[in-house]
Amino acid sequence: MTPIRTIALVAAFALAIVAAVWLWRSGDGLAVNKGASGEAGQAQGTGKPLVGGPFAMTDQNGKPVTDQTFRGRYMLIYFGFTFCPDVCPTELQVMAGAMQKLGAKAEKVQPIFVTIDPDRDTPAVLAQYVKQFDPRLIGLTGTAAQTAAIAKAYRVFYEKVKDEQNAADYSMDHSSIVYLMGPDGGFLAFFPPATGPDEMAAKIASFF
Ligand code: NI
Repeated sequence: MTPIRTIALVAAFALAIVAAVWLWRSGDGLAVNKGASGEAGQAQGTGKPLVGGPFAMTDQNGKPVTDQTFRGRYMLIYFGFTFCPDVCPTELQVMAGAMQKLGAKAEKVQPIFVTIDPDRDTPAVLAQYVKQFDPRLIGLTGTAAQTAAIAKAYRVFYEKVKDEQNAADYSMDHSSIVYLMGPDGGFLAFFPPATGPDEMAAKIASFF
């Protein structure tokens, strides 16, 4: 897609995430207020993270994994596709850079790349791709239904678009946000595009 289209999409979805997180925080506040006023304390339909949840996928070695596989570690998770010309490689480089900056602390963090183009991104394709960024980076693929489910859980938009240059080929539009999930799988933070590796590493380390 064109750079302008990419920027517009990225901005739109960054805003959507900010709104989602704001709503979630507001929900938390509501739950606290309820508790303080002596009510049951469980807010109904609020105070629940709107990002993340259960998933079942296949890793770059062909092994089935779920969200439970990564419990006890922080997940640094990003969605994209290996044919992506610029946005995905840039973000994956930032994630790899943040892992380096974290030094020994990086042991607590599992960087994950989830493809939203499972038709082309087989485990074998992902295996070749992820190792270019960081040997610790895991690539996840799945069926169309599994991909739709994890993207929905993480509020990731993706869509197949025709390539103007080649009628037989296609590209993918997708939102570009890196998420940090806690050892319990709960949402902790997100990193919009243009976050640098130093900033990302500092934010991650602030949760340890
Ligand atoms: Ni991309």
